[in-house]
Amino acid sequence: MNATNVKLMFAVASAAFAFACGERTRQSNEKQDTTGAAAFAVSSQPLGPIPADDSLARPKSLHQVGVPIALTRSVVPKDNPQTPEKIALGEKLFFDGRLSANGTVACASCHQPRLAFTDGRQVAVGIDNRVGQRNSPTVLNALYNQMQFWDGRAATLEQQAGLPIVNPVEMGQPNLDSAVARVAAIPEYRATFIRVFARQPNPTDLVRAIASYERSQVSFDSPFDRYMAGDSSAISASAKRGWVLFRTRGRCNLCHAFADTTTRPARFTDDTFHNIGVLIVRHNVVPLARQAEQAIAKGDTIAIDQAAILTPMSALGRFLITRADSDIASFKTPDLRNVMVTAPYFHDGSAATLWDVMDHYNKGAGLRDPYLSTEIQPLALHERDIDDFVALMASLTSPSYRELGAKELARQRQLSRTSRPQRDSARAFGPKPVQPKPPSR
Ligand code: HEC
Ligand code: HEC
Repeated sequence: MNATNVKLMFAVASAAFAFACGERTRQSNEKQDTTGAAAFAVSSQPLGPIPADDSLARPKSLHQVGVPIALTRSVVPKDNPQTPEKIALGEKLFFDGRLSANGTVACASCHQPRLAFTDGRQVAVGIDNRVGQRNSPTVLNALYNQMQFWDGRAATLEQQAGLPIVNPVEMGQPNLDSAVARVAAIPEYRATFIRVFARQPNPTDLVRAIASYERSQVSFDSPFDRYMAGDSSAISASAKRGWVLFRTRGRCNLCHAFADTTTRPARFTDDTFHNIGVLIVRHNVVPLARQAEQAIAKGDTIAIDQAAILTPMSALGRFLITRADSDIASFKTPDLRNVMVTAPYFHDGSAATLWDVMDHYNKGAGLRDPYLSTEIQPLALHERDIDDFVALMASLTSPSYRELGAKELARQRQLSRTSRPQRDSARAFGPKPVQPKPPSR
């Protein structure tokens, strides 16, 4: 990250704010805050205190079954090598509210170790309880992502870390320099920066330290990993059936594919973007796309970040970055490790349980959307199949979250027995509808 990148002035795309003030339809518990210059949606479920930097947050050992050792080493950038002291500095910063404009929000507020570095909310809530548009993904194993964010707008963890600090609904700083100034005012931090980087605190080193910490969050050792390593009793018969279905009738591996074609997947993503029809019906994406082209200069990282987090243009996904119509409403395929403990699901948190996710795929959601991935189709899965998929996904939980995983599985199963908002059996077992052609430009 260079100096121009980090000189993040409060250069807010005015269009982004116009959107933020206007057509917000998200959570019903929102009210409008009209006291500020710009109005932000405010959550009625306030952000809690910053979570403790506890044992779940410690850098992880590489001695876990399933860790891709070579890959883990290769994702460390040459200009930001891992050192224990740098990782410890990054860990402190990750939990430090002083990076935010009013001291109340840390990275860990939305990426809570006890919730596998997520926040359990449909969409994130930041400074002054302002509500964003997107669900907080886990930071576990984010080191392997070829691009960061649901739409891949940050190329590296270093680039990613600067954006929430200056986003007006996340940590609310006017620019990175003001976050650095807060840190530099603390003698202990100043001394640590000088020891680690041999210079005074500055934006580049701030995000480097945070990224180094995130690269220590390697999370494997799941029952599935032990199964893959040869322990045939590590997962249930149901999860084993789920693993077969995942690669056959479920077609999941078409996108949640593996880094290689061996039978030992380290990651469950192809590191690319697809439109899988998540709540696409809610948005009239084509006019929205034309508006975004007017409102946001191509490549303006800050304006894109704000559009993604603050405005309904969020639904455009990868399109905001590439401006290719084929990327409209495309989002990054997320890795599925620890997915049992990172509910709710999808970029907008619109699926409450893994059963809802399965119902979404089963009915081939979004088939009236001209930009839907051609891989999406009705799957004709029976209830028992769906339970098997969920059992497979539950087997991807790392040991630190074993208890939470068991509780979450029971909670979601219970909920799924009474609430299935995404289920549509007629469509799941029906023919694939004809997909409309994209409108001509
Ligand atoms: C207010 C809540 C909030 C705060 C504070 C926050 N994040 Fe996030 N984080 C999110 C949300 C929401 C996303 C997804 C946004 C998107 O994709 O557009 C995200 C995405 C990420 C990702 C990308 C993961 C992936 O799979 O693509 C990483 C890494 C990350 N955050 C780290 C951090 C760090 C480091 C900080 C502190 C400097 C931080 N976050 C502060 C909510 C938050
Ligand atoms: C065409 C590519 C594709 C296929 C096929 C596919 N997925 Fe996905 N999956 C994605 C993308 C892209 C997302 C994120 C979409 C979004 O949030 O808008 C996703 C999201 C998910 C999530 C939510 C994860 C989270 O952290 O929120 C789960 C769980 C999931 N998929 C499981 C599956 C399973 C199980 C199958 C097979 C039945 C499957 N997927 C098939 C691309 C795909």
